[in-house]
Amino acid sequence: MKTTSFVLRGDLAYSLSPTQWRTMSNGFLVCVDGRSAGVFEQLPERYDDLPLLDFSGKLIVPGLVDLHAHAPQYTYRALGMDLELLDWLSLHTFPAEARYADLNFAGAAYDRFVDDLRKSFTTRACLFATSHTDATLLLMEKLEESGLITYVGKVNMDRNCDSPAREENAVRSLQETVRWLDGCSSFRRTSPILTPRFIPSCTDELMEDLGALQRERKLPVQSHLSENQSEIEWVQQLCPWSKYYGDAYDHFGLFGGADCPTIMAHCVHSPEEEIALMKERGVFVAHCPESNANLASGVAPVRRFLEEGLRVGLGSDIAGGTQLSLFKAMALAVQVSKLRWRLVDQSLAPLTAAEVFWLGTVGGGSFFGQVGSFAPGYELDALVLDDTRLAGPHRHTVSERLEQMIYLSEDADLTAKFVAGRRLL
Ligand code: GUN
Ligand code: FE
Repeated sequence: MKTTSFVLRGDLAYSLSPTQWRTMSNGFLVCVDGRSAGVFEQLPERYDDLPLLDFSGKLIVPGLVDLHAHAPQYTYRALGMDLELLDWLSLHTFPAEARYADLNFAGAAYDRFVDDLRKSFTTRACLFATSHTDATLLLMEKLEESGLITYVGKVNMDRNCDSPAREENAVRSLQETVRWLDGCSSFRRTSPILTPRFIPSCTDELMEDLGALQRERKLPVQSHLSENQSEIEWVQQLCPWSKYYGDAYDHFGLFGGADCPTIMAHCVHSPEEEIALMKERGVFVAHCPESNANLASGVAPVRRFLEEGLRVGLGSDIAGGTQLSLFKAMALAVQVSKLRWRLVDQSLAPLTAAEVFWLGTVGGGSFFGQVGSFAPGYELDALVLDDTRLAGPHRHTVSERLEQMIYLSEDADLTAKFVAGRRLL
């Protein structure tokens, strides 16, 4: 019998569509070779021989996916949260990231991050490291060992930064990127993703080189897009030839398409043409509500993205955001969408609990393939949550308990965690 085949028993919940979740009280979730074989009210006889892990009375939901976070910023989180983006980057972020030139420092800081991520509700994540090749490889080693499944990017940045986090020039940045790619080829669960920090950090020469490297190696790409008004104006000055911010990435061939899976964080202020191009190219939006509130960036029109059929997931954006918990990101996504609806635009209805749960599971999960659901064929990422501390005299439905977890879950509620059929906790 394979160790990645087993049955979980408990109160199940997962998304059927962006607007609907399915719940099953006291059901069976079958995992065969790391993938879901479905959920059942009664366990079919053919699975009688599989080991049964009995989590009766506990909630079982798909693992949560963090589409955008900065690993090196974790130990600096919650600092400078009274600033806006560009000041926060130059006063806090860049000086903090410069410290990762020191491998001892990086090892200690990344140990904290990886340990907390392993114990969090996150099963998969797309992470920025820093510009330092060796520290990035160290982070990837630690993540590989953790059992989590991640994409990690060595950051490219060769302009507009006073701190030594900036690379010398485009040639050095590209050389280091190739050295990093060579160094991480043996990892199984930890994949490289090209990571030009954002347009203001990368010269045209560097972007040209990264575009060529992307086409040569068919690597995925992650970056930031239309997060803040001052940032957007700066991009227009730096790339006067660009029609809009997203066009500046597209000009270098780093904006989605079949051979270039791309995640763009934020998209708070994307103009119509940018939204249209993201849709055409299948670019994923990483919606980061806590970060967008902390840095006063604004509120992304996520309802609009969903109506258009764009691909959207959630990000913690540590340390623009302070909370690793993707349940917190779900709650905040609802909260900020309600403020946007009340204060900015009544034509876009607030997000629902079902929608944000979908964003944090299937929405982000689909960047990794068939991930984020318990439907047959999906890779089996699951969280077992003990919510008995919330049980009152009233008996809640499984659906009500899931809603409460979105707002009230704490790390300690996590009883067990599975990634692609492998138990981590
Ligand atoms: N834009 C460029 N770099 C960053 C970063 O580290 N965090 C956020 N939120 N936005 C960015
Ligand atoms: Fe970010």
